[in-house]
Amino acid sequence: MFSAAEIDAMEAALDAALLGPRGANPLVGAVVVGPDGRQLVTGYHRGAGTAHAEADAIAQAGMKGVDLAGSTMVVTLEPCNHCGRTGPCAQAIIDAGIASVVYAVDDPHDPAAGGAATLRAAGVSVRSGLSARAAFELNRRWFEAVLSQRPFVTLHIAQTLDSRIAAADGTSQWISSPESLADNHALRSRVDAILVGTQTLLVDNPRLTARDPSGKTADSQPLRAVMGLRGIPDDAAIHGEDGRVLHLPTRDPHAALEQLFSAGVRHVMVEGGSSILSAFLAAGLVDELIVYLAPTLLGSGTAALNDLGITTLADAQAWDWDQASGGAVQTLGRDLRLHLFPGHTGPAAEAASPAASGVSAEPVVPDLFPSPTSPLQSLPHRTGAGTATGGN
Ligand SMILES: NC(=O)c1ccc[n+]([C@@H]2O[C@H](COP(=O)([O-])OP(=O)(O)OC[C@H]3O[C@@H](n4cnc5c(N)ncnc54)[C@H](OP(=O)(O)O)[C@@H]3O)[C@@H](O)[C@H]2O)c1
Repeated sequence: MFSAAEIDAMEAALDAALLGPRGANPLVGAVVVGPDGRQLVTGYHRGAGTAHAEADAIAQAGMKGVDLAGSTMVVTLEPCNHCGRTGPCAQAIIDAGIASVVYAVDDPHDPAAGGAATLRAAGVSVRSGLSARAAFELNRRWFEAVLSQRPFVTLHIAQTLDSRIAAADGTSQWISSPESLADNHALRSRVDAILVGTQTLLVDNPRLTARDPSGKTADSQPLRAVMGLRGIPDDAAIHGEDGRVLHLPTRDPHAALEQLFSAGVRHVMVEGGSSILSAFLAAGLVDELIVYLAPTLLGSGTAALNDLGITTLADAQAWDWDQASGGAVQTLGRDLRLHLFPGHTGPAAEAASPAASGVSAEPVVPDLFPSPTSPLQSLPHRTGAGTATGGN
């Protein structure tokens, strides 16, 4: 069973998790509770390559001089047991003298699984299942991507008020405000790959690098991927200096993701154009949607999306506002940045169901939940410069 302090701490951990960025890694929050029930420190995961939530909380305790001996760590995901870029959290918890761990859901990712067993073997009390449903909802699409063994997919649309991504003459640089462009380039620097269609490659001749507003390239650069049957011209700007370009000679989004996953990509941002955006949306393969909405009208030109296979309103794709990672709506210069994730209903949810993705005929949720050491809590769900050569 769980104490009132542990239930409150899990609520706080779920809130903290929302501060992290969505992507290759899950959103995770951790709160350490003292023997008297007081919340001592709160940590969260700031994205791939940074400290996990548990390690973040322990580091904060170190900085503040808080002794965690005999305390309880309450965390939204099973502590990891693997030595990746950040070291195993289970060992860090043991080393910190934490006596007890309460977590919400099992980590479904094989190399990371097993933290609970390591903790128990070291004499740490471990209980699981507290707010399991809410914790699953927090990362519902990340679980789906992990189980499908495909990259997490962020879809990016930079559009006018009337949903145009290019004018009738093909010009599209720049529909977005400088602030939106800067935000997009920051995203580029933290994804593993950017994907565009062959038509965008041929029309825009983009570089697809991550750059700061002065044009300086960021230290971390994504793989640049192009999807479509036509080849990449030898003199295309996308080759850049490092030549880290991958051609995906397919029109099937599933096959494209398979190839990207084999290349080590765990988070891809699909940037366009409309045929590619539509293909991923129609297949239910989009985990996160970011729309930069510019307060301009074109009236004609390339529509952001074309056929999604929907002919009646009842089949409309349902999307939910995503409060994570900076919120559902932000103002970026003159633009609005809209942040959404697929809803539970409609074709997107169905296409993404385990049966449709070929993962398993069983529902994902029960498979992911820990073998309960206590009944699942029924807390509320959370919704949780011109078109110049080498321009974009
Ligand atoms: N505002 C923005 O954020 C933004 C971003 C990107 C692009 N754009 C604009 O978008 C426009 C290009 O859009 P677009 O729709 O014409 O081209 P696109 O989506 O970039 O590429 C379409 C091409 O990709 C290939 N392809 C691969 N998979 C496909 C699939 N499932 N369905 C259809 N085609 C597939 C086909 O070429 P193959 O024959 O080679 O297979 C197809 O002709 C440009 O004007 C560009 O400036 C705007």
